[in-house]
Amino acid sequence: MRIGVLTGGGDCPGLNAVIRAVVRTSEVRYGSAVVGFLDGWRGLLEDRRIHLAADDRNDRLLAKGGTMLGTARTHPDKLRAGLDQIRQTLDDNGIDVLIPIGGEGTLTAASWLADEGVPVVGVPKTIDNDIDCTDVTFGFDTALTVATDAIDRLHSTAESHQRVMLVEVMGRHAGWIALHSGIASGAHMILIPEQPFDVEEVCRLVKRRFQRGDSHFICVVAEGAKPKEGTFSMAQGGLDEFGHERFTGVAQQLAIEIERRINKEVRTTVLGHVQRGGKPTPYDRVLATRFGVNAADAAHNGDTGMMVSLQGPNIGLVPIGEATKELKLVPQNRYEDAAAFFG
Ligand code: F6P
Repeated sequence: MRIGVLTGGGDCPGLNAVIRAVVRTSEVRYGSAVVGFLDGWRGLLEDRRIHLAADDRNDRLLAKGGTMLGTARTHPDKLRAGLDQIRQTLDDNGIDVLIPIGGEGTLTAASWLADEGVPVVGVPKTIDNDIDCTDVTFGFDTALTVATDAIDRLHSTAESHQRVMLVEVMGRHAGWIALHSGIASGAHMILIPEQPFDVEEVCRLVKRRFQRGDSHFICVVAEGAKPKEGTFSMAQGGLDEFGHERFTGVAQQLAIEIERRINKEVRTTVLGHVQRGGKPTPYDRVLATRFGVNAADAAHNGDTGMMVSLQGPNIGLVPIGEATKELKLVPQNRYEDAAAFFG
């Protein structure tokens, strides 16, 4: 058998560990060859690829961030228009099953390809942890570790200057990184996309905290957090090339609003892509490896049209179309648990 593999969308710690596991499992367990397509779907559209081999060098991949295959975001229209080319590339390379590793966009494309009769096994990745039908995605633990460490550090400087500190973390649609890093680092407020925030309420908590004699206030803000309608209007960032709303520095804008309302120094830290770069945590390396092994097994067992997923202690398979119906958002009760520590 010949297996194709690609990584699509934003990169994520653990991608190389999945590739390594797919290659090892396919070669050693099944005697199959693996072809890696470069730069996401573009590699398939342009027939750019490398042969992957389970040699010793691949052991080093476990600890390496990014993706050795390169990645890109491809507009769905471009993919649809290129279906014939994709089939051609797969035929020319004798690919029996394609394993796309990606987030919402890549997996939605994979699901569409499956509907078009292309045999695929999806592997979910994203630091945002917002893919449905899997308990966790790899990359999340690494991003969470980076964010928590950063917020731990901000406590001491905020305390020394008696400041309000806003920390913006990634999470366009789902607030998992904000929620978990905020809980883990003892933040005094967490703002997530799922729960529009009231700037007056944030100010009330800040004032109450300082009146009580506390020395600082740390608020973790997911990049996709939005104010409640009518509180203040955020500057519009326009749309990106895919027609998605651009994110426009919510923490910076909130800082201005807080300073306008109360007499406190506010500082903002935007963690940005530092959360996505660098080596994966051991947890992410293990999860990514298990996903890779199970994706290769599924491909060889004919379980296509499926996505590997973490289900409690086990790795299972779910129909890829099910997993891409909606994003996994932070439920209200999880936010309320965290809110017990606000202020
Ligand atoms: O989807 C993962 C993610 O890291 C988001 O949290 C973030 O909004 C986005 O990617 C950033 O994308 P880009 O690297 O294209 O700026």
